[in-house]
Amino acid sequence: MSSSAKDHWQERSKAWTATAIQGISADDTFNQMIIAEAGIQAGEKILDLASGTGNPAVSIAHSMHGDGDVICADLTPLMLQTARQRANKLNLGIMSFAAADMAALPFDDGQFDAITCRFGIMFPEDKVGVAREAMRVLKPGGRVAYIVWGAYEENPPFHVSRRAVAKYFGTDEGPIPGRHSLSAPGTLRKILQEAGLAKVEERELRYKNRVDDIDDYVTRNLKRSFVRRN
Ligand SMILES: C[S@@+](CC[C@H](N)C(=O)[O-])C[C@H]1O[C@@H](n2cnc3c(N)ncnc32)[C@H](O)[C@@H]1O
Repeated sequence: MSSSAKDHWQERSKAWTATAIQGISADDTFNQMIIAEAGIQAGEKILDLASGTGNPAVSIAHSMHGDGDVICADLTPLMLQTARQRANKLNLGIMSFAAADMAALPFDDGQFDAITCRFGIMFPEDKVGVAREAMRVLKPGGRVAYIVWGAYEENPPFHVSRRAVAKYFGTDEGPIPGRHSLSAPGTLRKILQEAGLAKVEERELRYKNRVDDIDDYVTRNLKRSFVRRN
């Protein structure tokens, strides 16, 4: 992991923690999707990688009603502080927290029933290596579910605000952000097959989110999308 990648997420964590949802999100659709895809059951031991401010880890722990073990892991300790606050607020005593690079996990082999990773595997350089590392810590027969963003053009919350800001300042919109780098159908499947996972399925999940407070939504989106440069 390069120190610039760490610095990048350290910087981003300020906006992410300032805009994090407390408790369970009013719209928990993505988290419920990954819980269903990973087939998570109460009583299991789950690792959530690149969990940021606790997604989907908090929703997973909430769904287990006190029976199980959920480890919420992220590269960036500041993100985890917010995840911990959310867990405390919801009395989720089955959650624990680990600052961890998903390329080199601080866990023994064969520990987890299932691993989740929501919008995280697009960022490390060696994605096959990261998937192999997840496999290493899975129990035999364990499951892993990754969720990645689809194409930039098909995700208006990202391109509408960037285009509006570029137009306002008379600047270029810039390159397509790295978060969309695994959007082409088959890309994630190929990574997981190369890593050696036994049975790989890739599915397109389409979702139109409901926005109740447009000012709050746009402000949050802008704060998360733009990094301060000194
Ligand atoms: C787009 S955020 C997603 C956070 C959360 N899963 C969510 O969906 O809200 C990406 C997260 O990946 C983390 N991250 C980036 N590279 C990582 C790595 N190599 N190992 C672990 N976490 C990483 C960042 O710190 C950040 O919290």
